[in-house]
Amino acid sequence: MEVFRSIKDIKEHLSQLKKEKHSIGFVPTMGALHEGHLSLVSNAKQENSKVVVSIFVNPTQFNREEDLLKYPNREEEDLKMLNEVGCNIVFIPTKEGIYPSGVNTYTTFSFGSLEQIMEGKYRKGHFHGVALIVSKLFHIIQPDTAYFGQKDLQQYLIIKSLVNDLSFPLTLRCCSTVREESGLALSSRNLRLTNQERKVASNIYKQLTLAKNNILEKPETFKKPKSINTLKKSIINSLKQLETPVIVEYIEFFNLEKMELCQTISKPISVAICIAAIVNEVRLIDNLFIGDKII
Ligand code: PAJ
Repeated sequence: MEVFRSIKDIKEHLSQLKKEKHSIGFVPTMGALHEGHLSLVSNAKQENSKVVVSIFVNPTQFNREEDLLKYPNREEEDLKMLNEVGCNIVFIPTKEGIYPSGVNTYTTFSFGSLEQIMEGKYRKGHFHGVALIVSKLFHIIQPDTAYFGQKDLQQYLIIKSLVNDLSFPLTLRCCSTVREESGLALSSRNLRLTNQERKVASNIYKQLTLAKNNILEKPETFKKPKSINTLKKSIINSLKQLETPVIVEYIEFFNLEKMELCQTISKPISVAICIAAIVNEVRLIDNLFIGDKII
């Protein structure tokens, strides 16, 4: 496994690999890696002859300075894990390399209705920062296929529109969410939870699963907005009443076909139930597909 910190060096190396007809799979990350990230690497390995993973804690996507400062740096452990799963190339650029003219760019990204809801609504400017770094990384790496997790569903949908709107010549893959046995979605932020808080946090997945089963068992009940609202309220209340309260920031149903929030559910069902909730100051997100996924 080779580690590059210079943009010039990795570009030279990759252009040589392309001349040798290698296919390049790319997994962008911010480090503090876990099995969720590694599953993206495994998917990339199955479909490409070389896999590149980037590790860069991107300052432009944090709307709270505090979250950026708290972001774990575990480079040594990350490199060990990547080596073990057979990653070929790791790219760890510097902030100056990526943002030579500073983080305040003239170019800004906005994604219309797609970013006025859920993560976009609660984390102003977040998706601008994500689109900026992902565009830069796509230009540097020029992968054949790039891998993202369903865990960050809205991020995936935003990147899909970015790739489509700007004609990036690559294929995107959305990989399933990896979970702890309890159901809790793996996240670098789980490092900030105590064992007891992790247990409590697993109720987020449990509530999403209950809601999903409820809808699939009696879909006709959810033709009315009232039923969806009652379901949302019951989830919010159940999570609030736990021994450590889990405070829901939003819970939404997103129609994957129409690409918008929905207040009712009709057939054919192609909906994701999306949640952001806070457990003792740690903000967690998760989502589940209901029906036939079409992404
Ligand atoms: P990061 O949070 O490090 O996540 C990197 C990738 O891992 C994302 O595509 C994310 O969806 C995926 N991932 C995280 N947890 C997962 C899980 N439990 N199961 C499956 N996949 C999971 O997302 C980012 O970094 C950044 O926004 C980035 C795209 C790198 C741009 O800076």
